[in-house]
Amino acid sequence: MRILVTGGAGYIGAHVVELLQARGDEVVAVDDLITGIPERIPGVVIHELDLADTHSVPRLSEILTTARIEAVVHFAARKQVLESVQRPAWYFQQNIGGLANLILAMESAGVRNLVFSSSASVYGNAVGAQIAEDAPTVPVNPYGMSKLQGEYLVAAAGTAWGLRGVSLRYFNVAGAGSDRLGDRAVLNLVPMIFERLDQGESPLVFGADYDTPDGSCVRDYVHVSDLADAHLAALDTLDSRPAGWHEVFNVGTGLGTSVLEMVETVRRVSGVDLPPEIRERRAGDPASVVASVAKIERELGWSARRGTEEIIRSAWEAHRSNNER
Ligand code: WQD
Repeated sequence: MRILVTGGAGYIGAHVVELLQARGDEVVAVDDLITGIPERIPGVVIHELDLADTHSVPRLSEILTTARIEAVVHFAARKQVLESVQRPAWYFQQNIGGLANLILAMESAGVRNLVFSSSASVYGNAVGAQIAEDAPTVPVNPYGMSKLQGEYLVAAAGTAWGLRGVSLRYFNVAGAGSDRLGDRAVLNLVPMIFERLDQGESPLVFGADYDTPDGSCVRDYVHVSDLADAHLAALDTLDSRPAGWHEVFNVGTGLGTSVLEMVETVRRVSGVDLPPEIRERRAGDPASVVASVAKIERELGWSARRGTEEIIRSAWEAHRSNNER
């Protein structure tokens, strides 16, 4: 297949680019290179382009047509929750505007298959042991709102002109498929633990008085390579689906791991023995967020193969190799 990957030089996008290339697909990337790093995807043509700019529509349409693209995997977006609270209009402009421009270009170029990066943040503070796709979607920050609106837009374009879409709701993504592909941003738990260790400081645990087995927050950590596999499963299902088809799928493991357990695994894997430091709860954190993965297993035949040990081992190796550069 010939596939356009937006945000292809990003942390998750680059993992998908690598898998697509490995199986012989032709890949073209679009990236504004604000957080994307071209060295992640050597040999891939990257069109440097801000999707949220209206002028991008004719350019994108030309890229789609010239490269005879058959499907798009859309990662390019802003993804910092706190920043989205501070700059909601910009988040909507970037995330919804970018997707709208992409879909306009796809319509004009006649490209009908789309995999959209959504997020478990669409569920807001959902409660229950495992969250299924039919749980209420009540996002609690503009980032999550922009992802939910994005899903609606993909579905609406299906109704309007037959776009076929899959929206993947990612849970907590971590790990690295290779040293080159590690997450270089320090915005989530695993990179934040590593940064503390680099500084010779204890990892921070935001709250140990939650109603969870050990008192710290529980999340569903999915290895980025498993997540990348899920995109291939999503892409591969689209061709056989009717025009206008759209489905949402959780991408997680169905297993919860606490912050204290993650910190302990980092201690074991890294050999750096600094005891966790318990801090106040962080505002807005739900106690437990774990996916139900029955739907994606049943309908796409995908399930995660890697656990938290492999997530942390691969992330640690990529982190060390990046520090050595
Ligand atoms: C995980 C847990 C922290 C750092 C966010 C978005 C979500 C998704 C993933 C994109 C929490 C705790 C963290 C630290 C800690 N993003 N923590 N010490 O908040 O579950 O999800 O990122 O789609 O939409 O909301 O992820 O990695 O920030 O935190 O104790 O130094 O680790 O409080 O319980 P989160 P996270």
